[in-house]
Amino acid sequence: MRIELRDIRKYFGPVKANDGINLVLEGGRIYGLLGENGAGKSTLMKILSGYQPPDTGEILFDDQIQHFSSPADALGKGIGMLYQDPLDVPAFSVNDNYLLGRDQRIVLDYKNASHELQEMTARFGFELDLQSRIENLSLGERQQLELARLLVGGAQVLILDEPTTGISAEQKEVLFGSMRKLAREEGKTLILVSHKLDEVQELCDEALVLQRGKLVGQTDIPCPNEKLVKMMFGQVPERSARPDFDLGEVVLELIDLRVPTYRLTIKDINLTIRQGEIFGFAGLEGSGQRLVLQACAGLLQPDHGKILLDGQDVSSWPYHRMQNAGVGYVADGRLEEGLVAGLTIEEHVELAKPKHSFFINRKVLFAITETKIEQFQIVGRPDSTADELSGGNQQRLLFALLRDNQKSILLENPTRGLDVRSSNWIWDQLNHRREGGTAILFMSSDLDEIFERSDRIAVFSGGNMSRVLETVNTSVEEIGHLIGGQA
Ligand SMILES: Nc1ncnc2c1ncn2[C@@H]1O[C@H](COP(=O)(O)OP(=O)(O)OP(=O)(O)O)[C@@H](O)[C@H]1O
Ligand SMILES: [Mg+2]
Repeated sequence: MRIELRDIRKYFGPVKANDGINLVLEGGRIYGLLGENGAGKSTLMKILSGYQPPDTGEILFDDQIQHFSSPADALGKGIGMLYQDPLDVPAFSVNDNYLLGRDQRIVLDYKNASHELQEMTARFGFELDLQSRIENLSLGERQQLELARLLVGGAQVLILDEPTTGISAEQKEVLFGSMRKLAREEGKTLILVSHKLDEVQELCDEALVLQRGKLVGQTDIPCPNEKLVKMMFGQVPERSARPDFDLGEVVLELIDLRVPTYRLTIKDINLTIRQGEIFGFAGLEGSGQRLVLQACAGLLQPDHGKILLDGQDVSSWPYHRMQNAGVGYVADGRLEEGLVAGLTIEEHVELAKPKHSFFINRKVLFAITETKIEQFQIVGRPDSTADELSGGNQQRLLFALLRDNQKSILLENPTRGLDVRSSNWIWDQLNHRREGGTAILFMSSDLDEIFERSDRIAVFSGGNMSRVLETVNTSVEEIGHLIGGQA
């Protein structure tokens, strides 16, 4: 199938998310769609997949003009999209989600569905527990479920919007393997939206670059990274180095910590983190690193061992008490845990205030919000809702809501989905905080980020924490081995 986009435009108020895009996509090829945060990538893909209509412009398949009334309609015509944030229902099981919206029958055909799903997952080497509820799955597993749904639904064109943020290296290999198979053997068209140039180089045949709603570049891959970056930003962004820093007093101390959960128990965690230190947790998704962060944030209760904050036992303190004691937490699920989708930036700023009065002074709130928007360079207005912001801008908003003078900040994948420039900006903020004595504890599925940004590193596998490694005395390879469990 040959797809043509003709003069696609989509404006949101003053924002020209797509500003006259013309593009032809051929079957059997893998395209990489690049562009900085807010460039209009997701908007274009949502239009192509029937999630939203363009203001003007046409979509043609093999020279036939198409109109989509919904994503299901688009899927019926052969276009499937894996969204940046999964669209599944967390309280339902894998099986139920798979069936959801697929056929309109009153009595659902579970037997056939399990069979189909098993066949599809086996074909691509996915591992899914069909009975498990979505809320107990990793992001990678939720993606695999969506992908299986789209393929069974008959997708000829598959759009994957940043599919590798937050999945493990192994899940990525499986995913890329399936993508190649679909393009080479089945002649499908694949579009990978990504900020990771290495992935685009590894997987794609051609790169498409968007900038402020316009297509500014189109080039065959391989192509030097520097050239791609220049197309995206107009120049090569500077990368700030990790500053040397003298550590202060111990801020956080974990002693023989054990946290049991439904899926996994972490145990025997012993760790001290000092003022100004940046400590990185590496490991596959779901290896226990998140549980440690959540325990430190007061979101999970340990059943054994202790958490000390400035020497005080805070093991049983709930989240809000920890927050008031100076522990900030930036969650992975931006729109699920960190922000509230339908609320505006202004409302978030009000909600995040340490103290609330009975009445809200709208004028003052508006002014504070405008200052934050400027200070954190958020592309949005005080009345933009969180779900209207691009991924990178949602992350900036999360940072804008963090309180000043934190003793410790805990972060899950702090730069997930961010372009190079925004990632650097986030780390500049964090490095600035550490100079003020804040202890930073973060987990990341990006090994390079762990390696580049941390003073010390611990690797998680199956709920166990490795010995603590000094970044200067280790290598990416050593950490990679530990992640694989080859201690
Ligand atoms: N529903 C909406 N309402 C208002 N503005 C929107 C909406 N959807 C997108 N925008 C705006 O359109 C612009 C492009 O957003 P889009 O999500 O397409 O960017 P992106 O290239 O996918 O960015 P990222 O890399 O951060 O995911 C942004 O400025 C965004 O705030
Ligand atoms: Mg996007």
